[in-house]
Amino acid sequence: MTLPKADSIPLAAVALATVVGLYFTIAGTFVGVSAEPDEAFASVAEAELFELMRAEFGGFLQPQMSGDWKLDALLAGRAVYEVQCVHCHGTDGRAKTPTAKLLTPPPRDFGLGIVKFTSTPVGLPATRADLLRTLIEGVPSTSMSSFKGLEVESLDAVANYAMYLLIRGAVWSNALEELQDSSASDAFEAAMLKQRQQFSLAIASWGRPDIPAAADSARGRELYFSAELGCVVCHQEDGSGGLVNAEDIWGVPMIARDLQQGVLRGGTSPADVYLRIRNGVKGTKMPPMAEHLEAEQIWDLVAFVHSMQEHE
Ligand code: HEC
Ligand code: HEC
Repeated sequence: MTLPKADSIPLAAVALATVVGLYFTIAGTFVGVSAEPDEAFASVAEAELFELMRAEFGGFLQPQMSGDWKLDALLAGRAVYEVQCVHCHGTDGRAKTPTAKLLTPPPRDFGLGIVKFTSTPVGLPATRADLLRTLIEGVPSTSMSSFKGLEVESLDAVANYAMYLLIRGAVWSNALEELQDSSASDAFEAAMLKQRQQFSLAIASWGRPDIPAAADSARGRELYFSAELGCVVCHQEDGSGGLVNAEDIWGVPMIARDLQQGVLRGGTSPADVYLRIRNGVKGTKMPPMAEHLEAEQIWDLVAFVHSMQEHE
């Protein structure tokens, strides 16, 4: 056997990784359909909590959800998820699949109940409309592609299912925290209540901002360079960004976005960039500016961010 030339090794490695990835993707899809994830519990109370979770949310093969969430067709959503999403995000939504290990950035782990790009203020979960936006637009420059090719019913159903996984994840992770100083049933009730309240607030807060007739990128530039807001600390004076010396809540090293890029991950439209600056990027160090800036000032920053792209 002849060894590959040095300069062809990276390509060979990529090809191998792709083939291996594809194998696991196919195998994983079939395993994913029949397997219920194994749970290992740290304590008796945690096992009790899991039983309460199952009574409320069912298993991943028979998802259910009670009350006023108004999410139906979970089974239809699961069916789409098993075909389109499971190899990256996993049956349990924890994104621990063999394919996920090959991807940078990794697919979102839904287990904390948090996603990055939402219309809602910090501390509140994504709305269904936010998830639909992500599914339609994808997350540009990552392996999260656009699913706008799916039929409307399938998109709706799979958005519901992603919402189910996120709600379930939020309740479980909040209840685990509560479990430190209360019984399993108290912890579960508290986590359910918190999630219901936050969900209602999120829906009430939803809305795309109206784009103003004029925004001033020169004023936006001043804000961008102001020591108080500190944009340049992470994004650099020229907007090229770079590594922030910390990990996000999913344990992934954070990179302040290169704002010169033509495409931004949370959407490039003025309304998207506005929401990003107002709400920050959840789970990361990109800070929400809602409490520091007036709407008008945020629009000025949006204009400046867009001007950096034009001068690429
Ligand atoms: C090829 C792998 C892959 C597939 C298939 C995939 N995703 Fe993703 N998904 C990703 C990656 C990677 C990210 C994280 C992007 C980031 O961190 O910016 C992501 C992020 C997400 C997010 C969160 C975005 C945010 O705001 O943080 C949601 C919701 C999501 N995916 C849902 C889905 C659904 C539903 C499907 C199936 C219809 C799907 N994904 C299929 C890789 C994938
Ligand atoms: C502490 C570091 C930090 C500061 C300060 C900061 N950012 Fe960020 N920013 C980030 C990181 C990290 C990301 C990428 C988050 C992700 O998607 O993983 C980001 C993402 C963004 C995005 C979203 C890009 C996309 O792809 O959707 C915009 C827009 C942005 N920043 C603008 C700003 C502006 C304007 C300021 C000042 C008001 C600012 N940032 C301050 C770290 C920072």
